[in-house]
Amino acid sequence: MEKKILEIKENLLKDLEKVDLLKNLNDIKVKYLGKKGSISELSSCIKDLSNDQKKKVGSLLNDLKNEVNTKIEEKKKLLEIEEMNKKIESEKIDVTLPSTSIKMGTTHPLTRIIDEIETLFISMGFDVVEGPEVEQDLYNFEKLNLPKGHPARDSQDSFYITEEMLLRTQTSPVQARTMDANLEKSPIRVICPGKVYRRDDDDATHSHQFTQIEGLMVDKNISVADLKGVLEMFAKNLFGEDREIRLRPSFFPFTEPSLEADVSCFKCGGKGCSICKGTGWIEILGSGMVHPNVLRNCGYDPEIYTGFAFGIGPERVAMLKYGINDIRSFYTNDMRFLNTFDRVEGEK
Ligand code: DAH
Repeated sequence: MEKKILEIKENLLKDLEKVDLLKNLNDIKVKYLGKKGSISELSSCIKDLSNDQKKKVGSLLNDLKNEVNTKIEEKKKLLEIEEMNKKIESEKIDVTLPSTSIKMGTTHPLTRIIDEIETLFISMGFDVVEGPEVEQDLYNFEKLNLPKGHPARDSQDSFYITEEMLLRTQTSPVQARTMDANLEKSPIRVICPGKVYRRDDDDATHSHQFTQIEGLMVDKNISVADLKGVLEMFAKNLFGEDREIRLRPSFFPFTEPSLEADVSCFKCGGKGCSICKGTGWIEILGSGMVHPNVLRNCGYDPEIYTGFAFGIGPERVAMLKYGINDIRSFYTNDMRFLNTFDRVEGEK
């Protein structure tokens, strides 16, 4: 019996030596400690022994069981460490490897300018409204004091769809629509961004489709001073705190007086440079006090209400601000151009 026990110990050591995978260790456990394992086999012989022997062999077998258990546990720990090391080795990543770059889209420069202008006017209490791009002659011209045959219609060469329908040549019709739709004829503060269309030959400064932002404020006692104040806020916000506004007489059929607004040059500060063509001022938009005829055409009593309106060209603002010299760059989607605007969102 004692010989057998020694044999079992030796075999166990050999088996443990050979095993190199955790999952095989269980087979060894079964082989020695299982129901039909060699130790159980030995235990089953105890019953045939004398009482004296039973005690002795019983205790020897107990020791053997404990020893086998400890040896297997020790091996288990060893194998676990080995397997973990192998895993760590095989799953190692090289954090210094260059990554594959992910191309991120960015906001188009024109959208960026429109967003900026919208945010500013919303902060001054204006609403943002939209109107149709396929417009009635009535709103695009007629209500804006441009009756059929008016010479100023020629300056806005239009894409007519029928005699009465056209692609809008300006966002000003949204002024008329907003006043018309306001049944209470109460005060109005809106801006209307959108696309406009003209039969122009495309070149560096002209495009048959471009964008405009119309502004309109109607209330009692609105004056040119209010217009100037709002435009000054606009100029400072887009071109810098030190900017000033200069208003010059102009002509638009829907405003009286009509005023061209210039901003003091953001490049030279007014001394004169190539951007302002030596004048110190840059023309940025058309504006004026809403013509009494327009107010009347849209149901507002010009004796009670006055208002101002303006039309901003976002392309022009973006071209000045970002130093872009060809208006077509906004629409041709050349990635070399667009990628120059991949700066942080919200940055001015
Ligand atoms: N609609 C004009 C244009 O396309 C721009 C404009 C000028 C709009 C003066 C206005 C304004 O509202 O008051 O040239």
